Amino acid sequence: MDQYLVFGNPIKQSRSPIIHQLFANQTQQQLNYQSKYVELNEFSATIARCIKTGVKGANVTVPFKEEAMALCNQLTERAQLAGAVNTLSFVNGEIWGDNTDGQGLVQDLLNNNVELKNSRILLLGAGGAAKGVILPLLAQLPAAIVIANRTIAKAESLITKFNNEKLSSCGFTDLNDEKFDLIINATSASLSGNIPPISNELVANTLCYDMVYGKELTPFLKWAKEHGAIKVIDGLGMLVGQAAESFRVWRNVLPEITPVLNILRKEG
Ligand code: ATR
Repeated sequence: MDQYLVFGNPIKQSRSPIIHQLFANQTQQQLNYQSKYVELNEFSATIARCIKTGVKGANVTVPFKEEAMALCNQLTERAQLAGAVNTLSFVNGEIWGDNTDGQGLVQDLLNNNVELKNSRILLLGAGGAAKGVILPLLAQLPAAIVIANRTIAKAESLITKFNNEKLSSCGFTDLNDEKFDLIINATSASLSGNIPPISNELVANTLCYDMVYGKELTPFLKWAKEHGAIKVIDGLGMLVGQAAESFRVWRNVLPEITPVLNILRKEG
């Protein structure tokens, strides 16, 4: 049976094995998918072993996404621009790298009937999570994507890599009287219980998305809801979406996201 793995450190919490098992059942594909904890200095040796033992592909999560990219013989454009890889395919002894995170986000937004074409998008954060979603968001032809970050220089340097006139950058306090259709939180602030310091008015009547998810609403989404956001969406759908896109890369079949997302939400 074809073997796939997900590597991370930590990895216990990973929901990828159950997601890929559900995709395999749904599309009647025969495959085995397991999570594997990798010591910090063992990543490249682990990948070499995968190739030797005939593993077909792997997902890569924190903290190995950049290291994975460096090992690849071929990269997709979206992986190059993301500067990180979450999907590896082992083909004839070579390592092909892709990044499906951004497509996962876009797919989840479209599944939630979010109109991206001609929309004004505010992307909060300029780290790895933000970088990975810019190209797939641009492909949806929004009117503008403004990238706001605590460290303005990081947002500025990020947009120069894309060379696209729809992108602009600023600090959180420069945003005061602008209006957006969609605000995406790509900062890691939620993980420490914080929210990016943007004004209350920005979220009123606006759709708010947090790439992070949890059993309860994330601090950003809770705050956005309290201040009149039209709708709030957490990143669980993005997780399932990126997995679906990895599955497509490997198996050439795009599984349906919604039934799997419904099962995960029920499980809590
Ligand atoms: P990730 O891969 O999750 O994006 P990262 O590359 O370390 O992680 O980036 C974290 C992002 O969250 C950055 O944009 C960071 O802002 P800075 O560039 O100014 O460091 C942002 N961030 C983290 N904690 C934050 C907080 N409490 N408030 C606002 N932004 C925060």
